[in-house]
Order: sequence, then structure tokens, then C-alpha cells
Amino acid sequence: MGELSVNHLLGIKYITKEDVDLIFETADHFKEVINRPIKKVPSLRDITIANLFFENSTRTRLSFELAEKRLSADMVNFSAASSSVKKGETLIDTVNNILSMKVDMVVMRHPNPGAGVFLSQHVNASIVNAGDGAHEHPTQALLDSYSIREKLGEVTGKNVVIVGDILHSRVALSNIFALKLQGANVKVCGPKTLIPKHIEKLGVEVETNLRKALEWCDVANMLRVQNERMDISYFPTTREYVQQFGLNKNLLDSLDKEITIMHPGPINRGIEITSDVADSDHAIILDQVQNGVAVRMAVIYLLASKIKQ
Ligand code: NCD
Repeated sequence: MGELSVNHLLGIKYITKEDVDLIFETADHFKEVINRPIKKVPSLRDITIANLFFENSTRTRLSFELAEKRLSADMVNFSAASSSVKKGETLIDTVNNILSMKVDMVVMRHPNPGAGVFLSQHVNASIVNAGDGAHEHPTQALLDSYSIREKLGEVTGKNVVIVGDILHSRVALSNIFALKLQGANVKVCGPKTLIPKHIEKLGVEVETNLRKALEWCDVANMLRVQNERMDISYFPTTREYVQQFGLNKNLLDSLDKEITIMHPGPINRGIEITSDVADSDHAIILDQVQNGVAVRMAVIYLLASKIKQ
């Protein structure tokens, strides 16, 4: 089997198409494992992983924890709310304290963009970025592409629109990098105020009309409005946002074609997506969650095999 070109997963920006292919092949194997009656392999019995979550998370944290357990790694969990970070300790001190307990890998979610890169330069462990502010969320983008590949056969050549709050979304940026790396065509759609200036430089097109974007795409990835990252208003009212950028069944039915609907969660039902769409056969939202465990197992397994060398 091949090996990753990197020792850390800090962002999709830093990996290659070959890395993505290797992660997906490995995830195929682990997906088969987690559907067995005994969902565990002994591969990482000698690896200890610390999950450091300095920002809220449900899905991503549980998904990493399950991935680690199914690889038989030892793991410890830390969440900022109950830690000494509140007492003024620096990130490096916190992490070095944890590493002195002989931890091999750190999975970290942090509100500051670049926190993972910073850590990888200062501590001696393999770092996995589980979301750094509005910057990147590489494992989410990998599981999203993996889910497209599973549903449509391949990612290359597919038309994917990412809808919503592109400006504040790490899921959007990592997805753009991942989809372009694999040769998909990407559009972003949302209020002009929530689309970063010069985003075309990343090789994506901007479409502010949701109907037109949907007529073009094979896959629509609906994002949540990241209210927690906004200190000013970016659109007049939620009602107006829903009218222009919310996905509902009437709109989907009027298209006369089938589109695959994705969402990274957590869903705000009735805002970016209505319940009848989220719960419909077109939506692969729960497949994404299931694939998340297999993809994270693959990432951890491949990074751990580089530590062991
Ligand atoms: C996303 C996140 O936290 O970046 N959720 C996730 O990881 N599944 C997206 C979001 O919070 O809207």
C-alpha cells in the first residue's frame, strides 16, 4: 500500500490527488469493517490519540472518537469548556502537557485559523485539523467527496454547487480545494455579501440565482448560516434568505431532474433546507455521517503508519 505525502492533515490545500485516492481506497476497506458484526480492527493498539476540542462540536467529535475506537487506539478527550485554557494557559503549554503523557496524535478543533499549522511546527505529534475557525475542515471535505463518489460513481467531471454562507465556512473552502483537486466543476451560490471577493481565483464560478445553480448541478451542498461568526448583518432578514437561498421541495420538484442533496450538519430545518428535502431520498446527509467514520479511520490509520516508521 502507498503512503501519504504528508505527516499531518492540516488542510486539503496541503495534500495531493494521490493522497485523496489513497484515503478513499483505505476508507473503502474500513467501511466494510464497520459494517461487520464486530466493527473493530486491532491496527492501532500502540497509538494514543488526544482529541482537543476548543470549539463546540457534536458530529465531528463523535465521529473521530468512534474512528479511533474502531482502530483500537487509546484516546483521551479534552474540551475547552472544562479545561485550564480558561485559566490563561497557552495552546502550546496545554498541548505539551498532554503530549508529555506520551500522546502520538492530536485531533484538534480550534476557533483560530492556522491553529493546526502552528501546532504542527511546535509539538512533536501528528496533527489532524478538525476545523480551524473559518479556514479549513479537511476531513469534512474528504467525507463529502467520498459520499459523492459513492453515490455518483466518481467526483471528476461532476457539477457541484455549494450554497449559503461561503464567507464564514471552513466546509466551503475545504470542499472547493477537494473538488477542484479531483476535477469537479464547482459553483458557489449565496447572497453577494456572503461570498468572498476574488473567490473565482480558486477556480470556482459565482451564481447568485439558486434556481439557475440547481439547473446546472448534479450535487447541491447546502451550508448553514454561521451566525456565531458574524458580528454584523449580512442579509436583511432570515425570511428573505430562506426565500432566495433556501431549498424546498417545490423548487426541487420544479426542476425536472434529480439532484443529490448534501449538508454537513447541523441542519437548521426550515432555513437552508426544509424537512421534506432533508429527509427525502435525494438527501445523502446521513450517508455523509456514516462515511465520516470510515474516512476518519483511513486518515488516522495512514498518518499513524507514518509515525510508526
Ligand atoms: C460544520 C463545522 O463545524 O464546520 N459542521 C461539521 O463539522 N459537521 C459546519 C457547521 O457548523 O455549519
